[in-house]
Amino acid sequence: ALERTLSIIKPDAVERHLIGQILARFEQSGFRIAAIKMLHLTKPQAEGFYAEHQGKPFFDGLVEYMTSAPVVVSVLAKENAVKDYRTLIGATDPAQAAEGTIRKDFAESRQRNSVHGSDSVESAVREIAYFFVDTEICGR
Ligand code: CMP
Repeated sequence: ALERTLSIIKPDAVERHLIGQILARFEQSGFRIAAIKMLHLTKPQAEGFYAEHQGKPFFDGLVEYMTSAPVVVSVLAKENAVKDYRTLIGATDPAQAAEGTIRKDFAESRQRNSVHGSDSVESAVREIAYFFVDTEICGR
């Protein structure tokens, strides 16, 4: 099915000037960029986005990191976008990520792993609505 997923190019990648290379991989892999914006997350925004991870040992560090520099959030559209995007980015831990994946090539650690992707169609709907209103998402 034609799906949308929510992508975040994270602070470690923005700081290392990797935005263009990462967006190019999205497009080269067949994703259409349907919406995009750069923003510097506030602490409440980062905490709300990652609410499901509240209480985990890495939560405070994750929020600190995600608010440390700007991010680039985008809505990507494609057949089977949610699963295919997760294949493109690779495992959360770059040490476990497959060859040729974005995290294998760019991520620094389990925390500083360069990109985020929605883990299900239901998460994608919630995460897209967290950052975009319908009129900001371009269809065709
Ligand atoms: P993401 O796909 O955005 O979802 C949750 C984030 O928490 C994850 O990418 C990492 O940035 C971070 N994370 C997940 N597991 C760990 C961990 N074990 N240690 C540190 N950070 C983690």
